[in-house]
Amino acid sequence: MDMKEQSQLKPGDSPKELKSMTVNGTIKVITKPDTTPLVEVLRDEFQLTGTKVSCGIGRCGACSVLMDGRLINSCMTMAYQAFDKEITTIEGLAEDELDCCQNAFLQEGGFQCGYCTPGMIIALKALFQENEEATDEEILEGLSGNLCRCTGYGGIIRAARRVREELRETGFFG
Ligand code: FES
Ligand code: FES
Repeated sequence: MDMKEQSQLKPGDSPKELKSMTVNGTIKVITKPDTTPLVEVLRDEFQLTGTKVSCGIGRCGACSVLMDGRLINSCMTMAYQAFDKEITTIEGLAEDELDCCQNAFLQEGGFQCGYCTPGMIIALKALFQENEEATDEEILEGLSGNLCRCTGYGGIIRAARRVREELRETGFFG
């Protein structure tokens, strides 16, 4: 199946004989071996390079994505584990405007080199999807799987608090 055919697939059209996953709302057919790390599928096969890879062993969170709404390390997830699942990457958060978590990082200077940032934002998204009133302690716990070498975490924590404040004020998480 070429790229044109692939892009014409829509949710609900997934051919059963093909191995596929839904990525950011679009069904994608996978041609790499079943045991390929998901992060490699996302970056190399689907050209979604916003998801980063650093340690490759589940320690840093740079490769964080959502699978059926749950936070996972895509370096530790094999392609076959994502068959028929819904994957959300950093590219899938913004629609017409930045997602509230992306905007909070921008407003609060939650990044320097930016390498950890997509994973941090995805982890924050997962945290507030589960718990809109996350305490400071729960924020630290929720981001504990994501490492940043640059920022000292000040801006990251401020960004998380900003998301919480906006949620309280608007009740809207998007
Ligand atoms: S690259 Fe996946 S956890 Fe570090
Ligand atoms: S901003 Fe550089 S690793 Fe976090």
